[in-house]
Formats: sequence, structure tokens, C-alpha cells
Amino acid sequence: MSVLRWPIDPVVGTGSANKREILNIITLELIALVKEQYNLPWLGTHGIVHWSRVYDNGIKLAKQEDVNGRIVQLFSIFHDAGRTNEHWDRNHGKRGADLARELRKYCALDDSEFDLLTIACELHTQARTHDNLTVQACFDTDRLDLGRVGTVPDPDRLCTPLAMDPKTIDWAYRKSIVDDKLPATPFGLKKYWNE
Ligand SMILES: [Fe+2]
Ligand SMILES: [Fe+2]
Repeated sequence: MSVLRWPIDPVVGTGSANKREILNIITLELIALVKEQYNLPWLGTHGIVHWSRVYDNGIKLAKQEDVNGRIVQLFSIFHDAGRTNEHWDRNHGKRGADLARELRKYCALDDSEFDLLTIACELHTQARTHDNLTVQACFDTDRLDLGRVGTVPDPDRLCTPLAMDPKTIDWAYRKSIVDDKLPATPFGLKKYWNE
């Protein structure tokens, strides 16, 4: 287990979208707890490899002003964690949100931020978009990883300007079709186990 990164400093926003620094808040302990309850293959279509790419997408999209980098990070690990099958699983977003509530103390968010995390998890497959830009970015992080199941992300199904940028879609798509294993630093962690 790694040293817990807790308490967490807030995401540093400088006011300039290019200079925003996003601090990692996902810990090995949180990953272990999510893994313990996950019902599907850990390295499967909706498992840790997908989540870690969703995380990478989130770090990129959080460069947009008004996108909360801590919420998008935590969305990556919770949004599919309650799945019971790899296909159509209508209530998995709600179960992901419920899991986040169970593991609330591992989520370095204030209550209003935590509400947005649970909203993003609950609605990520059912809503086309949302009023809140961070929730939109959460939806985008997941939809940008559709290449793994043979689908090129559709800009009409994306929400934030950076996600809709053809360069972002191309970047995410290439990564989703060639990477069948964890990136070198999943969830921003230098040390990781994947068994
Ligand atoms: Fe999902
Ligand atoms: Fe997903």
C-alpha cells in the first residue's frame, strides 16, 4: 500500500486554463476497496484499464476552466464500479454513486462537490448532457474511451469544448484501441499492482 495522500490540497487553479495544476487524489487504498467489491473481471471491458484511461481523459479535460479536477478523478474509479455485467446494465451508475457514498471518507471533496460526483455517476449513461460543466466533463471522459469497444467517439455525444476538439477525440481514440493494459502511471500513481 502506498502512503495515503490525505488530506488533500485543493486543485490549484491559476485562472489560466493552460497552467492549471491537478493534484492526484486517488490512493491505492481506495483502489483496493473498490476492487474488493467489483463483480466483473478486473482487467475486463469496464474494469481498471478502462477506468485508468478515463482518469487520463479527466486530467486532460480538467484543464478547462470550471472543470473540477478532483471530481473527474473520482468519477473515473466509481462510475462503472457497480456493474454486474459488461453489457446493458441500467442501474450501474446508481450503484457506482452508492459505492462512492459508502466510501465517502476516501473522497476528498466538500459536500457540494460530492453531490456532483454522485450525479455524474448516476446519470453518465442516461443523460445526454447536464447544466454543470464538471458533470459534462465526467460524461466526456467515459465517452472518449469508446474505441475499446469499436466505437469512434461522436462529437454530438460529447459536452465540453475540449472533448469535442477533433485532436482530443483522435488522441483518446488512439489510446483506447492500442492500450490493452494499464498505463505506466494509472491514476497518477507511480507504484501500482494489477493482479
Ligand atoms: Fe458506465
Ligand atoms: Fe465507463
